[in-house]
Amino acid sequence: MSDFLFGAATSAHQVEGDNRFSDWWDFEKRVLSRKKIRSGKASNHWELFEEDFKLAKELGHNCFRFSIEWAKIEPQEGQIDFDAINHYKEVLESLKEKNITPIVTLFHFSLPKWFAQKGGFLNKKNLHIFVDYAKFITDELKQYLEYVITINEPVVYSYQSYLQGKWPPQKKKYLLYKKVLRNLAKVHIKTYHVLKNRNPKLKISIAKNNQVFEPARKGSPMDNLLVKYFEYDWNHQFLNRIRKCLDFIGLNYYFYRAVKFTSSLSKKFYQFPYPTCRKTDMDWEVYPKGIYLMTKDLWKKYKLPIIITENGVADSKDKLRESMIKETLQWLFKAKKEGVDIRGYLHWSLIDNFEWDSGFSAEFGLIKVDYENFARSIRPSALVYKDLIKKYSSK
Ligand code: GAL
Repeated sequence: MSDFLFGAATSAHQVEGDNRFSDWWDFEKRVLSRKKIRSGKASNHWELFEEDFKLAKELGHNCFRFSIEWAKIEPQEGQIDFDAINHYKEVLESLKEKNITPIVTLFHFSLPKWFAQKGGFLNKKNLHIFVDYAKFITDELKQYLEYVITINEPVVYSYQSYLQGKWPPQKKKYLLYKKVLRNLAKVHIKTYHVLKNRNPKLKISIAKNNQVFEPARKGSPMDNLLVKYFEYDWNHQFLNRIRKCLDFIGLNYYFYRAVKFTSSLSKKFYQFPYPTCRKTDMDWEVYPKGIYLMTKDLWKKYKLPIIITENGVADSKDKLRESMIKETLQWLFKAKKEGVDIRGYLHWSLIDNFEWDSGFSAEFGLIKVDYENFARSIRPSALVYKDLIKKYSSK
């Protein structure tokens, strides 16, 4: 039996529900509720985790990535909620009983409101607060932990929150975006050293969203130049900063972009048209070969083991998911065969969930959630994934 990690991923705010001490809860109340978007009970995974893990087991998963919600552990600064810690111990115990390896994320987009009010990761003085929290929570859960992701998608987080103004704290300043990124790199490095000192066996990384950029017009020098710029700026700059503090690379792969330089004098001097035709419910392009290109590229540059920490499609009718998983695994195992050290594949997501500012409209789950009564039902593609897990695990 191979020890390749196969499974799915979630994040606390998106599935658990009742995250009332977080900055997101507050943001939803103030802003998103105008569009009737509130996370509320989310997928009620807080209460139904046992059922969800039984289903994961039934579907052949041996790994599960999830995040621990800091706002639930420390709802007010300095006040620890030990019931919440016990909850996560039960979660980890349940996974252990089922022989499902946990990969635990410490920061997946949502923050305690009190931390956000102090300026979050924009304020350098706050970084040690996160490091102390990370030390505390990983000590508490020590007996269960092997894999830790410090930060989920730092570039996406900073981009949406400090440049696009879509997520809290809704800033739109390039300099702030870059500053938060520098601080997140610092906080990762510090956390890495502190956690490794206490427990050298931990395998620590971040989950990095990397994208395939291709020139819209192959022969255009400007398109090609922009591709180089995006590859550096989006895919590699952050990883370069922290490269000495990574035990593996967590890769979240979703996007394929064609890059086109336009000479208009407007602020938008480039654009991202989608060149082919398979699109998810969120209009994202499905491009399974991208996982091959991305893993080859990461291997060439960093020579570190890779775990796919997220990859999936919003597909409420379950029309694309099956072929997408099939083709993605073909490409992934081709890269593996060619020498890339790939250790796992985690599909986003185990269950339908709250897709940030898109609310519940995007359905990413291998398992469908009926939000009227929280009933779970396995989608047909999840069974295909199950067979593929069997096939690839016996190789
Ligand atoms: C990732 C993110 C997840 C989930 C997913 C699907 O960027 O880490 O939280 O939202 O995208 O959009």
